[in-house]
Amino acid sequence: MSPHAAAVLSGLGAWLPPRVVDNFELSETLDTSDEWIRARTGIAERHVAEPGKSTVDMAVEAGRRALASAGAADVDFVLLATSTPDQPCPGSAPQVATALGLNGTAALDVNAVCSGFVYALATGAGLIAAGVASTVLVIGSDTFTTLVDPTDRGTVPIFGDGAGAVVLRAGHADEPGALGPFDLHSEGELAELLWVEAGGAKHRVSADKSDYFLAMQGTAVFRHACARMAESSRAVLAKAGWTVSDVDRFVGHQANVRILQAVAKTLGLPVDAVVSNIEKTGNTSAASIPLALADAVTGGSLVAGHRVLLSAFGAGLTWGSAVLRWPDVTPGA
Ligand code: UT7
Repeated sequence: MSPHAAAVLSGLGAWLPPRVVDNFELSETLDTSDEWIRARTGIAERHVAEPGKSTVDMAVEAGRRALASAGAADVDFVLLATSTPDQPCPGSAPQVATALGLNGTAALDVNAVCSGFVYALATGAGLIAAGVASTVLVIGSDTFTTLVDPTDRGTVPIFGDGAGAVVLRAGHADEPGALGPFDLHSEGELAELLWVEAGGAKHRVSADKSDYFLAMQGTAVFRHACARMAESSRAVLAKAGWTVSDVDRFVGHQANVRILQAVAKTLGLPVDAVVSNIEKTGNTSAASIPLALADAVTGGSLVAGHRVLLSAFGAGLTWGSAVLRWPDVTPGA
């Protein structure tokens, strides 16, 4: 492994739990409708993990498929992007590594919520560039349906469960699949726009059950997401020396189809460059970008050679972007 090697995407995997909950089913228990959810978010249905199935279980499924896709045997680092670990402590990545037959391998959670996958890609690329690792399994897995208050119509319709993964290997910056540059940011003073009040070190136990669920100021988050994803996309394109017309596919975090459309419009990207699978998945947080990539490759709309812009936004607040030329990689079975 040479120092300052580039991280090259060489495997892809996706996993969605089998149970599908559509908007009609949600409207049986919530004051909402299929019409409202579709019009405001673009979501028709989402996958929901069965009780007892968890972030680790889904991460293992997606990770196994990514390893099969890459034909990779020697992984020396597992990064798990999640903000819904199976326990508040420890992180879940070691359990994922062990279940994948990688016991003994370095394993670490990355918690940047819906930006987690882009942050974990950057972390993996950094580990490879520093010579700390030569093959990194990067998984995004989240079980957000366990974090939303089942009585809250402001959050329940938006979120779904799932996991997606990629394998990064040390390679050269001019190879297809070479990741980067990156553009990453955070703004902690706005954390309360989207957070869980209780269960952490500051407020471990609360008498109010709603403190354990996600509280979201949706409209403010929407506005920040549109502005920050566009800003960060422009910044990463400038770093890469690309113009907007160089971008064949824009794979943004799937939070709301209106956010993706607004960002594309601000950037001047054509509608058919926008990759979206949110109609069938909802917002799967750290899993959303690899799930969208896998869906696009399977559907034939993302092919080797395409120049891809990734951009994400999430709680924290956090946001970030990256670019790559899509390699000849298809999702593993
Ligand atoms: O990954 C990052 C995480 N989160 C996000 O990115 C979320 C970003 N925000 C959003 O996607 C949108 O703000 C939402 C989809 C959450 C909400 O859409 P909106 O267009 O901002 O709607 P709103 O909250 O302004 O509500 C509009 C109306 C309100 O009624 P009135 O006051 O106009 O009478 C709400 O009470 O829609 C009502 N409403 C609903 N109606 C039916 C809010 N939620 C629902 C619902 N069903 N589920």
